[in-house]
Amino acid sequence: MIDLRSDTVTRPTPAMREAIARAEVGDDSLGDDPTVRRLEERVAELLGKEAALFFPSGVMANETALLVLAPPGTEVIVETTSHFVDWEDGAPSHWAGVQLRGVATPDGLLTAELVEAAIRAPSRFQPQTSLISVENTHNAAGGRILPLETMQAIRRVADRHGLPVHLDGARLWNASVATGVPEAEFAATADTVMVTLSKGLGCPVGSLLAGTRETMDRAWRIRRRLGGNMRQAGILAAAGLYAIEHHRARLADDHARARRLAERLADTAGVRVVPPETNIVMIEIVRDGLDAPALVAALAERGVRTTVFAPRRVRAITHMDVDDDDIDAAARAIAEVVGG
Ligand SMILES: Cc1ncc(COP(=O)(O)O)c(C=O)c1O
Repeated sequence: MIDLRSDTVTRPTPAMREAIARAEVGDDSLGDDPTVRRLEERVAELLGKEAALFFPSGVMANETALLVLAPPGTEVIVETTSHFVDWEDGAPSHWAGVQLRGVATPDGLLTAELVEAAIRAPSRFQPQTSLISVENTHNAAGGRILPLETMQAIRRVADRHGLPVHLDGARLWNASVATGVPEAEFAATADTVMVTLSKGLGCPVGSLLAGTRETMDRAWRIRRRLGGNMRQAGILAAAGLYAIEHHRARLADDHARARRLAERLADTAGVRVVPPETNIVMIEIVRDGLDAPALVAALAERGVRTTVFAPRRVRAITHMDVDDDDIDAAARAIAEVVGG
């Protein structure tokens, strides 16, 4: 099987398993796990923040940011197709009791003007804006990168209105490798930043939330309430430390393979592929008589796994466990199904 459903399908490499096996551990909820501590310090350093906190998942870290920054009954500005809106199963309303204000964009990329227009004026009757959340890279927009200048402009708008900013940076590593802009420069535009280890970096588990020490102290209590406290989590943090040192730069290979897939499909009548900026390829079906579920099913029969993203859109994501030959085989399978 060539599995392009997500960059979460990767399995730890032998070297990562060795790092896991060697991990020095302790009870992290008592502050005793040295490997978790080192991971949190390393990620805080990479993101230019005072502190970071290790979470079992990106969703839990994202929700924690909402619980820290956005009081119940307030409104959080997000892009309409953001992960918060479409893929967290209503968690923002369930846990944080906030309302999401989706801002529509043609390409998933918020702008400072659009954000400012969505900020509510003071009113006794309307929900009040408490937080702006941006996603970089933007998953549903095909891994698009929100440019640093745009994030800086959104930060200026937030400052003018006294609002905090959260960055859902599940794939911030990809944005940084693709642009050459250090993660810390993107992170400097946000109060809290969520990054994930279990996507392109290839770890089995783990995400982190970073921000000020005071914010992370509050986040610690919320993680506890959500049931996210862990014990000898150094087993997992060791994978994260390994991946940060050894798997970040190689994300460029995933980006090259995503471009390779798009190039191979450029001349395939019946599909349209926007050249990807990072590791996510969105394949639009522009031929009659074929929809995304049918294409995904036919590809699975040919040993290629992809995801239905919309009725006529299929998503393919490149990652550590696929190579150039896999990409060429996937492109041939897609052309075969669409052509015939
Ligand atoms: C943009 C974005 N944010 C958050 C998440 C949530 O991460 P997790 O699945 O680790 O909870 C994902 C996962 O795909 C994502 O793509």
